[in-house]
Amino acid sequence: MKVENLFNLKGKVALVTGSTGGLGTVFAKGLAENGCKVILNGRSPEKVNTQLKEFKSYGYSAFATVFDVTKSDEINKAIQKIEKEIGSIDILINNAGINLRAPLEDFKDDDWEKVIGINLTGAYKVSKAVVGGMIKKKAGKIINIGSMQSELGRATIAPYAASKGGLKMLTKGLATDWAKYNIQINGIGPGYFKTEMTKPLWENSEFDSWLCKRTPSNRWGIAEELLGALLFLASDASSYVNGQMIYVDGGLLATI
Ligand SMILES: NC(=O)c1ccc[n+]([C@@H]2O[C@H](COP(=O)([O-])OP(=O)(O)OC[C@H]3O[C@@H](n4cnc5c(N)ncnc54)[C@H](OP(=O)(O)O)[C@@H]3O)[C@@H](O)[C@H]2O)c1
Repeated sequence: MKVENLFNLKGKVALVTGSTGGLGTVFAKGLAENGCKVILNGRSPEKVNTQLKEFKSYGYSAFATVFDVTKSDEINKAIQKIEKEIGSIDILINNAGINLRAPLEDFKDDDWEKVIGINLTGAYKVSKAVVGGMIKKKAGKIINIGSMQSELGRATIAPYAASKGGLKMLTKGLATDWAKYNIQINGIGPGYFKTEMTKPLWENSEFDSWLCKRTPSNRWGIAEELLGALLFLASDASSYVNGQMIYVDGGLLATI
């Protein structure tokens, strides 16, 4: 392997779950700009198709698949169709996620199930659906999108923290079972980035000034700043890296 080819992703088939907006769209753009055939995903056909049109207008090699990461039947059907029509998946980004906020004593059981179901069980289900193709090829990359809450608790979001801490351990578990097939499973833990999910935080001036003081870089992240870690973990550059989380957080986890 020539050093100049370490980060080459040309022609790879990449699925980004939850790429109708926010960080998922930026991940999908980053992969498309680096030569991947990118498959966009979300639960709403309208949103997925709008995104697909935009990607095509940029000249990207883009496709769309609509499924809910909590629904095994939908996932399996979609993956089979992708494998038949586009090719088996080389790179999976388990990005779909939600956060529901409430003090734990008031938290509804249904909401707990939703958060764990999408953020943790969803990543397990989609990984399982794509791994057959990766085992056949003896190559694959799975990148799980964790969080600061893979490491830290925070008031009102205990279920989210449980899901993201679980996702970190799922990353290690998948690596333990699948590294022998030359599949690398790693995670990215973003700090704070302005998206729909974090709107209640960046609209809150008290939180905004707290965060900027709390973060050694003194600012929010810019979504494109996640792409270096993404390209590293999606490419041959990380062929002997497995079960790791890379935190892209302006130094937040380095200090209290
Ligand atoms: N923003 C941050 O600062 C930050 C920090 C740390 C970690 N993260 C993580 O990064 C990921 C993306 O977050 P974001 O901030 O970009 O959130 P976002 O703007 O709310 O986007 C979430 C995406 O997930 C999709 N989604 C939600 N439930 C789904 C399901 N059941 N099946 C398929 N797709 C689903 C949504 O699409 P539809 O609603 O159209 O289905 C949407 O495209 C999440 O895992 C989040 O936990 C974000």
